[in-house]
Amino acid sequence: MSEQVILKIAGVNKRFGGLQALSDVSIKILKGQIYGLIGPNGAGKTTFFNVITGLYQADTGTFELDGKPYSPSAPHEVAKAGIARTFQNIRLFGEMSAVENVMVGRHVRTKQGVFGAVFHHKAAREEEAAIRQRAMELLDFVGIAKFAHRTARHLSYGDQRRLEIARALATDPQLLALDEPAAGMNATEKLALRELLVKIKAEGRTILLIEHDVKLMMGLCDRLTVLDYGKPIAEGVPAEVQSNPAVIEAYLGGGH
Ligand SMILES: Nc1ncnc2c1ncn2[C@@H]1O[C@H](COP(=O)(O)OP(=O)(O)OP(=O)(O)O)[C@@H](O)[C@H]1O
Ligand SMILES: [Mg+2]
Repeated sequence: MSEQVILKIAGVNKRFGGLQALSDVSIKILKGQIYGLIGPNGAGKTTFFNVITGLYQADTGTFELDGKPYSPSAPHEVAKAGIARTFQNIRLFGEMSAVENVMVGRHVRTKQGVFGAVFHHKAAREEEAAIRQRAMELLDFVGIAKFAHRTARHLSYGDQRRLEIARALATDPQLLALDEPAAGMNATEKLALRELLVKIKAEGRTILLIEHDVKLMMGLCDRLTVLDYGKPIAEGVPAEVQSNPAVIEAYLGGGH
């Protein structure tokens, strides 16, 4: 594995009123890694995603993507910089077809943009066809090509999660950040998701992954950070993290 640092975040603090949701969180992710972020409910995992993707403003922190400082000031700027994410609570356009949902993801990367594509100039038409073709390829890649024309809200829960991943991949991201992609999945769906993540990694992409299924995480992640009450309490390869007493206490202790 190369030693190229894709994401380097240091000293992130985020407070909501009296609650310190993130307390001096730093993270370094190398290209090609699957990097795990785990911790009990309310530990600050989603808040960390919200901060690095521009949904929330951090109180402090420095942000670097692929060696360049970036400012997570707005979600569309972050997408342009090369981070794509999915949400803990699925956010699809429920009334649009699966392929259209992926096409919307792709439009952040194109010259015409969503509005240019509305005008049927030749260039726009050609670009639209290319976007549609790429969207179909991505649906195939995540394993739901046969549902391309199905309305998103009529897909199974697991397939909606896959569709979100396809839409995130449509931006051709440097970093794919997934917030609990296995939530609500049955064992078979989880196994398929695991395979999909391995396939994404094999393409050379980098993944930041939040997930509660510890067994899945330990088998899948190259490294992990554990948050507890907003604080990083452990960082390392799965074996190190799993045997860390503070981690065992956070998961088994009565505090949560
Ligand atoms: N917008 C907000 N305003 C106020 N408090 C918030 C906000 N977002 C999150 N919090 C609080 O910050 C803390 C961390 O929440 P967060 O959603 O990041 O946890 P999490 O680790 O993702 O938990 P889970 O595993 O349950 O998804 C919680 O106490 C939560 O109530
Ligand atoms: Mg969360």
